[in-house]
Amino acid sequence: MKITLTATAPDKEKHTGLILGVYENNELTPTAKLIDKLSEGYLTKILAQSGFQGKVGQNLPLFHLRGTAIETLLIVGCGNKEKLTEPVFRKIVTGAIRALSTVSSSRTVIYLTELTIKNQKLAWKVNQITQAIGDGYYRFEQFKTEKEPLKFPEFALYLPDPKQRHACEKAIETGEIIANAVAFTKNLANLPSNICTPSFLADQAKDLGKLYKNLSIKILDEPEMRKLGMGALLAVAQGSAEPPKFICVEYHGAAKSKAPVALVGKGVTFDSGGNSLKSPDSMVGMKYDMCGAATVLGVIKAAAGLQLPINVVGIIPAVENMPGGTAYKPEDILTSLSGQTIEVISTDAEGRLILADALTYCERYKPEVVIDIATLTGAVVIALGFHATGLLSNDEKLAKDLLAAGLESNDRAWQLPLWDDYQEQLKSPFADMANTGGRPAGTITAACFLSRFSKNFRWAHLDVAGTAAFMMNTIERKATGRPVPLLVQYLIDKAHG
Ligand code: BES
Ligand code: MN
Ligand code: ZN
Repeated sequence: MKITLTATAPDKEKHTGLILGVYENNELTPTAKLIDKLSEGYLTKILAQSGFQGKVGQNLPLFHLRGTAIETLLIVGCGNKEKLTEPVFRKIVTGAIRALSTVSSSRTVIYLTELTIKNQKLAWKVNQITQAIGDGYYRFEQFKTEKEPLKFPEFALYLPDPKQRHACEKAIETGEIIANAVAFTKNLANLPSNICTPSFLADQAKDLGKLYKNLSIKILDEPEMRKLGMGALLAVAQGSAEPPKFICVEYHGAAKSKAPVALVGKGVTFDSGGNSLKSPDSMVGMKYDMCGAATVLGVIKAAAGLQLPINVVGIIPAVENMPGGTAYKPEDILTSLSGQTIEVISTDAEGRLILADALTYCERYKPEVVIDIATLTGAVVIALGFHATGLLSNDEKLAKDLLAAGLESNDRAWQLPLWDDYQEQLKSPFADMANTGGRPAGTITAACFLSRFSKNFRWAHLDVAGTAAFMMNTIERKATGRPVPLLVQYLIDKAHG
């Protein structure tokens, strides 16, 4: 990626391509006004005739604009100036970058930094544009014998206020590190389960450890897990030919005495449902059941890249959930690492079982907070769709901080209640609890289950089944890299506050 800043006035700028905004009813942004003047009103004339109305989602490419040296000009609709919120800004930028691939240019200057958003500084816009470029130019073509040719143009972001150059340079740096972490997470998530096994994830963690100083990696193998008593995790793994791995990554950015933030990521490299087998249709997309794990590794990569002055531990229980003669079964009773017993009702509610042992394991780090990230329930897709990550927590301050980080990073979450009333649904006649709570409030009862293993620390749960990957139809499946931006923002806030 090559992204720079330019403070040169648009008419003095040597650009071959240019992206600028026009608000609803064709109200021009400052640079659009200037270009209009240079072209002697040609721009407004074209806008009036083209049917372009400045709505969000509308794009108008123009070439060799009269009276200027501009080769290509992409006009993007920015909607109502008063209603330009953070998510709308990101949508405008993403749409512009997508449209850009249809027009070729080697150097492109982006003037969308001129758009006004209440309460957001220039550097925020620069950071968001940088991340949107990373997203827009991401491809996963490792397994395509014919690769789509992809030209990455040189991007310059317009700096309307030269006094903010330093802050904006930092914003590009931060944006690029986050974009790289997001791409890393997407790559891992997009890999199929015949390649991305629990052992593969462990190797990825080890590779990360070689890439950055301040990282130490520890992998627990099955015998060690058995010795510790991780009965819930091992039950999920026992039907698979792939051995389970318990991955611990420590990032040391602050004094040893400083309590770490613990991130726990669900690492089910394939979720067939086990003996409670999924239907063929709902099994497609289940290579993405390790998105929580990929997020943890991506966030740690970003924390190390940004050299954040905090301590972070990443914990990844990695297993494959398969059916068969050696697999665990409904009505089996498991003893978890915490000592609590669990009656299995569905072997497809496997995520909470591996997370239970991982959460208990976290206690030994005496963490300041614990955040788990998991593609845990289909129910969260019914509740929140694909736009918000489900958030549940036993600590209101932690919940508030995560919600704020989601808004700031444009990677939003929405809180659901974790009331005791829901705990009843987990009763079992034979064990301390059942692993499912029936259909009502499936996301909440899953979190209730996890809360029983999180009593000794401040804890939040992010259910990313709807946000970490698109998997609803078979042709457009892809990982999103969420909630890496949210969590990196949370860590940045922590480091600075
Ligand atoms: N990995 C799934 C959740 C999931 C579903 C993720 C759809 C992404 C898209 C999880 O392990 C699962 O199977 N959950 C069950 C829980 C039920 C058995 C209580 C579900 O949501 O149906
Ligand atoms: Mn499952
Ligand atoms: Zn699962």
